[in-house]
Amino acid sequence: MDRRFITLDPSSLAISAVYDLLVAAVQPRPIAFVSTVDPEGRPNLAPFSFFMAGGANPPSIAFSSVLSPQGERKHTVRNIEQTQAFVVNTLTRQMTAGMNATSYPFPEGYDEWTVSGFTPIASEAVVAPRVAESPIQLECRLFDIIHHGDQPSAACYVIGEVVRFHVSETIWDGSAIGPGRFNPISRLGGPFYLDLESREVFELPRPTGQPEPSIEA
Ligand SMILES: Cc1cc2nc3c(=O)[nH]c(=O)nc-3n(C[C@H](O)[C@H](O)[C@H](O)COP(=O)(O)O)c2cc1C
Repeated sequence: MDRRFITLDPSSLAISAVYDLLVAAVQPRPIAFVSTVDPEGRPNLAPFSFFMAGGANPPSIAFSSVLSPQGERKHTVRNIEQTQAFVVNTLTRQMTAGMNATSYPFPEGYDEWTVSGFTPIASEAVVAPRVAESPIQLECRLFDIIHHGDQPSAACYVIGEVVRFHVSETIWDGSAIGPGRFNPISRLGGPFYLDLESREVFELPRPTGQPEPSIEA
């Protein structure tokens, strides 16, 4: 067995190289499609693939939103800090284009639902709406936000307690989510994704210009 390794000290690398190492090493990653509202009730949608489940009692999840190139917190994090609430929506292959459109760096207060084509439905326990097209939605109350660093690309770990699960009847087998019935997409390195349903790897570059409002919205 070849036990030679390339050893890298992140402190001597460009941030983009460190990012590439992380997203290649930690894959496939599930994607949290996060719905929030600001204190005026203006809605926001954005995907985050630095995402994991953390515990079951109480149920909790965490995702990380990195600081923007200007060193600022993204709108999702600011909304959660102010409203203490968010919804994590899961993603299928059919939802990919709408999800990707929402990842464009829109100005503050922009309603990404208009480019997504998705349908908002009211949550039961939190102020942010759910995405009707998403087969599993998790209503979350903020537990904590941990800031690790204060420079561009530093992590803001958002930890949420899941206060409601909403599961589409199409994937519910009567007592649980049926094996093989939920087939989300997940994120790989670079612009690549894995579609669990077809077992395909597919490529989807991020939007380069501001997406147009969807006719379905
Ligand atoms: C599939 C996918 C996964 C992403 N994952 C993350 C992530 O884990 N952390 C992050 O900060 N940005 C991530 N982004 C970029 C954000 O979605 C993007 O910066 C978005 O504009 C943030 O919106 P907001 O400012 O309204 O919160 C991802 C984008 C895509 C397309």
